[in-house]
Amino acid sequence: MLLLTSGGAHSEKCSGAEPGGCSGKCGGLGACAMNTAHQLAESLGRAVDARDRRLSRHSELVAEISGLLARAHGLTARQSELVHMAGHMHDIGKIGVPDAVLHKPGPLSPEEWVLVREHPRLGAEILCPVRVFRGPHSVCEIVLSHHERFDGGGYPRGLAGQDIPLGARLVSVADAFCAMTEDRPYRQGMSVEEAVREIKASDGSMFDPCVVKDFLRIRHLLPELLQGGSGLSCPLP
Ligand SMILES: [Fe+2]
Ligand SMILES: [Fe+2]
Repeated sequence: MLLLTSGGAHSEKCSGAEPGGCSGKCGGLGACAMNTAHQLAESLGRAVDARDRRLSRHSELVAEISGLLARAHGLTARQSELVHMAGHMHDIGKIGVPDAVLHKPGPLSPEEWVLVREHPRLGAEILCPVRVFRGPHSVCEIVLSHHERFDGGGYPRGLAGQDIPLGARLVSVADAFCAMTEDRPYRQGMSVEEAVREIKASDGSMFDPCVVKDFLRIRHLLPELLQGGSGLSCPLP
């Protein structure tokens, strides 16, 4: 795993852990809960990516870059790990979008766009039973808001500026960068430098200018991240 400064599912240990399970010293919301939640987030991200083999590392990369952006923005390690987890699961709602729409090679009809635009809300609904994913500035809020635009032209709520949860403004930049650099059936992925130029060009329209500054501070890490192997952070059996 590359440069996981935001912490990872395999990097944190519960101080109260004992053979057979957690002692409960963490109160259910400490390292044990975070570690389990992170593992769950990685699994759910892989579940979404498994629907399209070309995107086998998309959720992993969005998580890595979102976590790095959170640290560059000055968030704490715990806050950054929650943003990283939201990056893993940002598109979990797509499991509720029909394959025929999700993989349609041509332009979508207005009715099909309605289905696609439901995926942030559906994702938040899927995740809300998990306690550590709920609440203000939570993973659920980030997933719900990851397609909002800084200028208010996004969805599902049309939020603008600081009304968009900060974590969602961070994940939005990471998601766009990854999408631009990935190959699609109808186009080749952009180079890192081309994608960085596109992000800069959308400063203040799609993206929070402060987050774009954070992104430029971590740009030197991006080529290595994109080249990072299979993306699997644990050995397969
Ligand atoms: Fe992770
Ligand atoms: Fe999405």
